[in-house]
Formats: sequence, structure tokens, C-alpha cells
Amino acid sequence: MTETERTFVMVKPDGVQRGLIGEIVSRFEDRGLKLVGAKFVRIDRDLAERHYGEHEDKPFFGDLVSFITSGPVMAMVWEGQDAVAQVRTMMGETDPAESAPGTVRGDFGLDLGRNVIHGSDTEEGSNEREIDLFFDEDELLDYERSDETWLY
Ligand code: TYD
Ligand code: MG
Repeated sequence: MTETERTFVMVKPDGVQRGLIGEIVSRFEDRGLKLVGAKFVRIDRDLAERHYGEHEDKPFFGDLVSFITSGPVMAMVWEGQDAVAQVRTMMGETDPAESAPGTVRGDFGLDLGRNVIHGSDTEEGSNEREIDLFFDEDELLDYERSDETWLY
């Protein structure tokens, strides 16, 4: 059984600079995922270090925090059946060079650092932790997304 869940997605500073917000939002909309929250923000150092806390001992941590705080990001919450895994599939691999064409990183990523997009990983609780870091409960909207109501 699949279950409806929410996942945290972010268009990283390189994706914003390159004008890829609309393209990325379109892909998730087309796939049938539902946008339940969004904010365009510049992440401060403290939030960046907490968001990427699992990597604090890695050699790339400093560069990662510098990069993610270098310009605005588009932070979003998407909802749908198995949304966490679906978004990971649509993102591609961490390294764009290993990502299949048709994935966001496979189509647009330049290198391991500048890989355009973040999405929560499938580890239990990662999605909730990241959503809570970026969004207050009242910033996540409950509504029906139904083609039947709006299209004819
Ligand atoms: P990670 O959580 O492993 O990848 P993902 O974004 O696919 O969940 O790593 C977080 C980010 O850190 C990754 O998107 C790019 C950066 N990174 C590096 O710069 N060098 C590395 O060797 C790795 C593994 C990640
Ligand atoms: Mg990760």
C-alpha cells in the first residue's frame, strides 16, 4: 500500500540563478504531486548547518553550507502518494554525472556541489524534520487538488 506523505524540496541557489524554478515546479505538478507550502528565502548559516547536520563531519560540509547560503532558494513542501521516494526518483542521483536523462539533476546538474535541487531522503523521519525546520504548521495548506473541479 502506498501512503500519502509530504516531502521537503528546495531549488538550490544555482537552480534559482539559472531560472529553473518554474521548470522544476512544473515537473512535480505534472507528476500529480500537490504543492502545500512554498517560500523564497535566503538561508542563514544556522539553518544551513541544522538542515545538513548529518554531514557535519564530512570534508565537503563547509563548502556545502557556503553554497546553500550563497543566494536565495525556493523551499517547498510537496504532497502525494510516496512523495518522498517519487521526488528522489525524479531528482536523480546526488552526482549529476550519474543521473539519468529525464531527472532534474540528469538534465540540469553541473557537478556534485551544484546539483540544482534538494529533496528529503527516504530515511524515516527525514521529511518531517526538514519540513519542521523550514515551515510553521500554519504555512502548510490543506486543500483538494482535483482536475475534475477545474478542467473541462
Ligand atoms: P547527500 O545528502 O549525500 O545527497 P543528496 O542531496 O542527494 O541527498 O549530500 C548533500 C549534498 O552535499 C549534495 O546534494 C551535494 C553535496 N555533496 C558534496 O558536495 N560532495 C559529496 O561528496 C557529497 C556526497 C555530497
Ligand atoms: Mg541528502
